[in-house]
Amino acid sequence: MNGVMSLVRPDLRDFAGYKSARSESLRGDVWLNANESAWANPADGAGRSRRYPDPQPPALRSRLAQLYGAASEQVLVGRGSDEAIDLLVRALCVPGQDAIVVTPPVFGMYAVCARLQGARIIEAPLVDGDAGFFADMEAIREAALVNGAKIVFLCSPSNPAGSAIPLDDIAALACALEGRALVVVDEAYGEFADEASATTLLDAHANVAVLRTLSKAHALAAARIGVVIADAGLVAVLQRCQAPYPVPTPCADLALEGLSDAALAQTRERVALVRSERARLHAALERTAGVRRVYPSQGNYVLARFDDVERAFRALLAAGVVVRDQRAAPQLGDALRITVGSPTQNDRVIAALSAQEQVA
Ligand SMILES: Cc1ncc(COP(=O)(O)O)c(C=O)c1O
Repeated sequence: MNGVMSLVRPDLRDFAGYKSARSESLRGDVWLNANESAWANPADGAGRSRRYPDPQPPALRSRLAQLYGAASEQVLVGRGSDEAIDLLVRALCVPGQDAIVVTPPVFGMYAVCARLQGARIIEAPLVDGDAGFFADMEAIREAALVNGAKIVFLCSPSNPAGSAIPLDDIAALACALEGRALVVVDEAYGEFADEASATTLLDAHANVAVLRTLSKAHALAAARIGVVIADAGLVAVLQRCQAPYPVPTPCADLALEGLSDAALAQTRERVALVRSERARLHAALERTAGVRRVYPSQGNYVLARFDDVERAFRALLAAGVVVRDQRAAPQLGDALRITVGSPTQNDRVIAALSAQEQVA
């Protein structure tokens, strides 16, 4: 057993999971083994949805593997990265015993999944420094070691703080936690960042896993396609814990189309636009009276603190602009997270916040 497999719950290491009709490799041309209909639904012209899908549609899996620079066996496709987070926690954490480390303020699903699994949640908070929030790698390592955590969730770029973690720091953490914990790097916003992907660490560090999604830069949030990229043995364990047919055929078809060379070229152009709009929005907010601080961001959003956050939130709402209220998040009692939109949408944000100051 390699070091990563030793992190899997002992009771799940040789768990076979559900053997669906589609997971058996049988040959034939009359398929009567899954109680499907012999006819297509009238709404399903080409009959693409008549049969259960392949648990891991091969064409999509290999396209995603190519996109992220990994082998197909290292990629598990699921219903958004949300599902990958859930699978990782369920497969590694023994309920009532194991723990995860999170770095608040941060995306809430790591803690939600841990709660549901009965795993302890250990916090190593981000530190609010002169250059923005940063992950305190020493505190994270100590928190993981002292509490015997099975998973460390790093969010890079961090949602909502915006900062990315240098790859060298992630590699050093993976070394320190080898055989003890899996370092999961959530790169939901990786396309918008300067830093290279942590997938480049996988060869040297089997205890690193990377989450990617088509929900953000690829504009396919409703298709619910996300992946975990990890050690092939761990991926096989996660698949056995996954629902039998996690990737609906219409979603797989749409995702493959959305990853064509032409679509990818357009996605890249839009990422470039978001990055330049992010800089413009950042600069405009810094010039706006009533904005106390704007954080540098590597994602497609900007985090800002306000002198009167309630007023800013209301002014945006009155202008029809809905942003994410961060007041309930630790360290962010005066902050809003604003997604970078189209240039005209960003103009509306800037106009609404500037106008409220003139009225004051
Ligand atoms: C950091 C982070 N990870 C994961 C997700 C979930 O993404 P998905 O749509 O792939 O489930 C989000 C969604 O907002 C996110 O912000």
